[in-house]
Amino acid sequence: MEEAIVIIGAGQAACQAIMSLRAEGYEGPITLIGEENYAPYQRPPLSKKFLAGEIGYDRVELKAESFYAESGVTAYWGTRATEIDRRAKRVLTNDGRYHPYSKLLLATGAQVREINVPGFELEGIHYLRNIEDVHAIQAGFKPGARMVIVGGGYIGLEVAAVAKKRGIDVTVLETADRVMARVVDPIVSHFYERLHREAGVTLRTGVTVSGFEGEGKVAAVVSGEGERFACDIVLVGIGVIPNTDLAHEAGLEVANGIAVDACARTSDPDICAAGDCTSHPNDIYGHKLRLESVHNAIEQAKTAAASLVGKEKPYNQVPWFWSDQYDVKLQIAGLSTGYTDAVVRGDPESGKSFAVFYLKDGQLLAVDAINRAPEFMMGKILVAQKAALDPARIKDESISVKELVAK
Ligand code: NAI
Repeated sequence: MEEAIVIIGAGQAACQAIMSLRAEGYEGPITLIGEENYAPYQRPPLSKKFLAGEIGYDRVELKAESFYAESGVTAYWGTRATEIDRRAKRVLTNDGRYHPYSKLLLATGAQVREINVPGFELEGIHYLRNIEDVHAIQAGFKPGARMVIVGGGYIGLEVAAVAKKRGIDVTVLETADRVMARVVDPIVSHFYERLHREAGVTLRTGVTVSGFEGEGKVAAVVSGEGERFACDIVLVGIGVIPNTDLAHEAGLEVANGIAVDACARTSDPDICAAGDCTSHPNDIYGHKLRLESVHNAIEQAKTAAASLVGKEKPYNQVPWFWSDQYDVKLQIAGLSTGYTDAVVRGDPESGKSFAVFYLKDGQLLAVDAINRAPEFMMGKILVAQKAALDPARIKDESISVKELVAK
């Protein structure tokens, strides 16, 4: 068959793949199928400046809509892929069309994990994943409003910071015994708990939400212990689930994400996958990762584009993440899972600038940098090198980050 590349999903990975396919010299047709009514846009600002109203759509769209036609892309917005027919090599969409492919890219991303407790359907309970979610939240985002946030992860805490600045009365309910437990050490969690409490947020950990109450509209969140938290608006940010149904139904290997190799190839040689939806090998850590990050979407899409045109550019990088809350920038280089030592550089108790170096038997796994760009930058390099560091040197601020590796 003639060459034709179809991309399912129209987020950061899809946009990058289009640019990379053309940069790799692919001149054939590209079809882009996106469920949202928008061309690909950046998601990170949605829970930050976009929610705050400081920037508009023009600042989050990745490319102007004209880019797609100019790049030879036939784009279907507001269109859902419903089936991949691998034998006929075509994708079916909910408008009844078939899209033939010679190569297929799955960039289906992730969806919010929903809270399934009584009252979940009440008006005023929101999630935050896309632009339309933000518009819905903004309608109830008024000074003096009472907002309960379920989940003290990235979404919950970034929204808490924006809402607080807006003069909203904010309560965060986290089920674990500390915030951001999925990604950081207790030292960093406790720093963020202090930061939010000092800003006037009511922050409760170890709270399980058992239901929502209200007549049509949410009026209270109820905990498992029977406590009631009165509210006008609720935001739920309890994690995401990779979108793997299409791949699974097509018989592709799925295991905590669509299984791909280092070249972003699925178990079907004509189908690649990139971004939040994948589970991929990583040599630095020696096991498979499923990452929810912009960096992963971009870099894996570059690799996938190369594979789609028959080149091999394995993806094997140090993951990194960031979060903005108030005037504090958290930058994370690497993954700390499995660390044996968390070594602190700076003072997390009083100031707003420190870094935590995570070691496993002396080898650096990750760095959490709080308003510490140099530690973050150097951390990325040292994690890639699997550097062995001396805790005493990490703690000694008279030694610059560049000199941390013992001579
Ligand atoms: P998350 O996984 O970061 O945090 C979810 C939090 O909810 C965890 O602390 C968890 O213990 C808690 N939780 C789970 N079930 C709960 C329940 N029933 N009641 C109360 N708490 C509960 O997920 P989050 O914040 O929803 O973010 C989703 C995704 O959005 C991230 O994984 C990331 O992909 C993206 N994101 C990334 C940001 C960044 O990198 N700065 C910022 C915002 C979102």
